[in-house]
Amino acid sequence: MELYLDSANLEEIKKAVDLGVITGVTTNPSLVSQQGGSFKDLIREICSLVPKTGSVSAEVMGESWREMVKEAEEIRTWGEQVTIKLPLTPDGIKACTILSGEGIKTNLTLVFSVNQALLAARAGATFVSPFVGRLDDIGRNGIDLVAQIASIFDHYQLPTRIIAASIRHPQHVVDAALAGADIATIPYKVFRQMFDHPLTEVGIKRFKADWAKFKES
Ligand code: G3P
Repeated sequence: MELYLDSANLEEIKKAVDLGVITGVTTNPSLVSQQGGSFKDLIREICSLVPKTGSVSAEVMGESWREMVKEAEEIRTWGEQVTIKLPLTPDGIKACTILSGEGIKTNLTLVFSVNQALLAARAGATFVSPFVGRLDDIGRNGIDLVAQIASIFDHYQLPTRIIAASIRHPQHVVDAALAGADIATIPYKVFRQMFDHPLTEVGIKRFKADWAKFKES
């Protein structure tokens, strides 16, 4: 399973990508709104940080498919990794069908059901993003949705890749991998938490202490 960073913060993206384990970035209007400057400059800067083979999701805000396609055709010129994020609405699906036909990468977002994921796959979406945490928030099981989509895409050999989104804690990452997600997109805080284990810290301290004794002897 690949790891993407779910962030529009350049400092976070720089620090995470620098470690060599992040292959893409997903943004959304809420994350972008927390940053200053223009959307275009931000996406261009993010593209300059992410591996050329990776993906950078940037969301359109139009409501009609015409508006979405128009925005997408502009946004795609901001970087070769740009993936157009579209909402799972009838207009979003139509825009996806058109953009897929033009070879433009797409990420269908705000997916909360298997049927929505199936529609995205039929429209040729590159990625589909089930929102795990937001389903958990309303007492449903977000990871079960990822597992169901993965099982159906696998059974019918549908090439659309699954991005487990709305990841809230490290166990979500583990569960997304076990459920068959192709990618988990992770907030920076959760990414940092993935490194932590008390036994690693204790182990490092003990090795250092033993090494210091050895050097003294
Ligand atoms: O990738 C979608 C994600 O940003 C939504 O996360 O925590 O706002 O549900 P959250």
